[in-house]
Amino acid sequence: MRFSSYWRNNVLSSCAQDWLDKSRILENLSDFARTQITALDLFFTLPSTNTYLLSSTTSGHVCLAEHQSAGRGRRGKTWVSPLGGNIYLSLRWHFVKAVQELSGLSLVVGLAVAKTLEEYGVPALSLKWPNDVLVNNQKIAGVLVELAGKEGAVVIGIGINGRLSPSHGAGITQPWTDIATHCQQPVQRNVLLALLLETLLTHIARFETFGFSHFQDQWKNWDTLAGKAITLTLADGCFVHGIAQGVDSQGALLVKTPSGQRVYHGGEVSVRRAINKQHKILK
Ligand code: BTN
Repeated sequence: MRFSSYWRNNVLSSCAQDWLDKSRILENLSDFARTQITALDLFFTLPSTNTYLLSSTTSGHVCLAEHQSAGRGRRGKTWVSPLGGNIYLSLRWHFVKAVQELSGLSLVVGLAVAKTLEEYGVPALSLKWPNDVLVNNQKIAGVLVELAGKEGAVVIGIGINGRLSPSHGAGITQPWTDIATHCQQPVQRNVLLALLLETLLTHIARFETFGFSHFQDQWKNWDTLAGKAITLTLADGCFVHGIAQGVDSQGALLVKTPSGQRVYHGGEVSVRRAINKQHKILK
């Protein structure tokens, strides 16, 4: 269902809520960003903004929703997507690159989200490889990049917790936080979205030209895992313990293990800080 005038006039106007507004987002964008966006669809509710754009054919197509009934996270998880306080954004982009050259993209998107939130005033931000955006080790935003069939075509999905009630947060299986907890003012999602699109599109342009190596140094400033004992869970369910050692020029995670340095690519790998006992074993 599109965000119809019926909803705006009869239902939403009775609430003191800063609803998403396409013209307010667009008017805060630079000429550069406006030329990159070929369409911007805003929905009251959708199953998933990513799923919606997987059926698009247009690079630069942006989709936003106030609510997702089947929001999707990485590794088949659900992304908790209640109405009205958060950001659910997807962007379809057709890169002139082969699939293997796209491996660092999800880290670049994570960097764009972290920088946007920092500029918005959120403190104590960091990134957990490949792209969890954290505040004091609690997740505030997540990124889901999906291949969209055609060579080089992707859908980039970003979820940011703007204002999440404890009852909705109870459905999240890891420590979480939201912007409202860290900023004094009510969250201005239209302003934040313009900032996010601007930063995202600039990062995409640089990634397209220079690849991930352009961002490798920047990653070090945000990397919450570097030098820490971690446990990786691989796609086959096996665990690997080691010390995180940053990322390589493709964005792959470098891990020092008892049998030498190993390299892990995103996809189906999950990583968490190791408990003290494992830390001792590794030393
Ligand atoms: C993660 O697991 O950290 C990734 C979360 C990605 C959520 C966003 S919300 C907008 C877009 N639509 C979805 O269904 N998922 C992504």
